[in-house]
Amino acid sequence: MKLLIINGPNLNLLGKREPEIYGGQSFEAFFSQLQSRFPEVELEYFQSNIEGELIDKLQDAGFSYDGIILNAAAYTHTSVGIGDAVKAIETPVVEVHISNLATREPFRHESHISAGARGVIFGFGLKGYALAVQSFL
Ligand code: DQA
Repeated sequence: MKLLIINGPNLNLLGKREPEIYGGQSFEAFFSQLQSRFPEVELEYFQSNIEGELIDKLQDAGFSYDGIILNAAAYTHTSVGIGDAVKAIETPVVEVHISNLATREPFRHESHISAGARGVIFGFGLKGYALAVQSFL
């Protein structure tokens, strides 16, 4: 089982960025815990702040991996291109958000990703990524 986590803009700052919303742990530290928790899964991680790089990565992985876990961050609410890429690829995508989008600003209630995703997990903090991995097992 080969899964890829793709994180979008500003998620490289996890741990430092608005910790009251996104928590105090860096994604790198969380990712090594996640790898030890699922030793049977080949887990990879990619982060970019650039929309086109996220689309390139979805296209690269989207015909060979067993699953993609995507937190497109702010691009979730703006990017028709990332939404189209999710629909274009064969690999199923699970959309994850750390925060509970329904309790936040109205512009965060819209997602260009959800219509192409197999499912959506939000509001559980970083644990949402572990729930997403489990959804593929
Ligand atoms: C986020 C929610 C987005 O609205 C925001 O722009 C992010 C992170 C989340 O994981 O809660 O950067 O995707």
